[in-house]
Amino acid sequence: MDRRQFLLSSVGALVSAVTAKTGLDWRGKRLSAQETRIEEMVRGPSITLRSLADKVGIDIGAGGINTVPFYKDPDYKKIIAREFTSLTPGNAMKFGVIHPRNNYGDERDYNFEHADAMLEFAEASKMKVRGHTLVWHMQNPRWLDQGNFDRRELIQVMEDHIRTIVSRYKDRVFAWDVVNEPLTINHESIPIFQGIGPEYIPLAFRFAHEADPSALLFYNETQAHNLDEKSNMVYEQVCNLLDEGVTIHGVGMQMHVSLRYPPNLVQVAKNMRRLGNLGLKVHVTEMDVKTETIDSSTEDKLEKQAKIYGDITKVCLDEEVCTSIATWGVTDRYSWLKEFTKNPEEKPLLFDADYRAKPSYYAVKRKIAESYTS
Ligand code: G3I
Repeated sequence: MDRRQFLLSSVGALVSAVTAKTGLDWRGKRLSAQETRIEEMVRGPSITLRSLADKVGIDIGAGGINTVPFYKDPDYKKIIAREFTSLTPGNAMKFGVIHPRNNYGDERDYNFEHADAMLEFAEASKMKVRGHTLVWHMQNPRWLDQGNFDRRELIQVMEDHIRTIVSRYKDRVFAWDVVNEPLTINHESIPIFQGIGPEYIPLAFRFAHEADPSALLFYNETQAHNLDEKSNMVYEQVCNLLDEGVTIHGVGMQMHVSLRYPPNLVQVAKNMRRLGNLGLKVHVTEMDVKTETIDSSTEDKLEKQAKIYGDITKVCLDEEVCTSIATWGVTDRYSWLKEFTKNPEEKPLLFDADYRAKPSYYAVKRKIAESYTS
């Protein structure tokens, strides 16, 4: 955020603080008691996103937590613990990171260091932890990608992997992304699918449920939040899993969106509702809103971004089936999108690169405050 934006945001905070104190808005219009209460909750320096989320019983998650800043940047952990109710490791629990070897056939093949550290931090901060992810087509270890396993061996590999990790974190991870983006690639490019076939999905859910019956098990997909061919395929697949008696508790909508391609709110709500009608929960698991996809002033981009964050927060609050909203990253400084888009100007999250709250942060707070006071 440049100096001008910082000044604007400071003036905004000051005006709202005066409003909260006097009951008058910036035009001098008297606010109702409810409006004054909302202003206090939105701008009150001691009222955090987390404290508001607790009041309405929704999980506000810090997802995509990067390992390097987790260890090296003290402000990173501070803001996570202050503002969020749950944490999702960005990479620490992925196959290639947590199970890098296949030499011994036991726990010596695993590296739990970073996942353990994040769990201990989250528990010390009284936060929940979402496990991400048990089976995905990316970030797998070389021994799996290049292994020459037959179907029976691959099923054993996947079963050992899932049972080892899920039982280690039994009763400590509240939800698992069991399969991640199963529709997003031609399956032939992942060894577990190639060798096992589509049955890897029900098998993965079974192994996870048997390892921790208390964990919520999710099918996590990207670009499947609107009503379209892809979300229809997700819907059809989870219907089939339920018909087969598979224990699946919910669908994760990753919600990687942009100013150029914002979510269709009516369709997202309908999509959530139809999943809820199956008895499933919906979590928004990885929300970020790319800003550098339209030509406009930074101030205008941040306002448009804030509207999208606020609108999705409201949809989730209005749809009982939606019980969690997590962003993928907490500060623009470490967003995966900077590297992915090769654009250091990307500002996709709630806090800027200097950990200052952006309009999006206040938009999310405002929607929660409005829900709480309505
Ligand atoms: O750890 C190595 C490091 O040792 C090495 O020096 C460095 C060299 O580039 O790479 C590091 O690994 C990187 C890893 O993040 C940890 O920082 C990988 O290259 C990089 O590809 C990996 O990116 C992750 C990406 O998934 C992989 O596709 C992002 O951090 C992570 O946020 C992102 O998350 C995914 C979700 O899991 C699923 N949904 C989509 C989302 C965005 O792609």
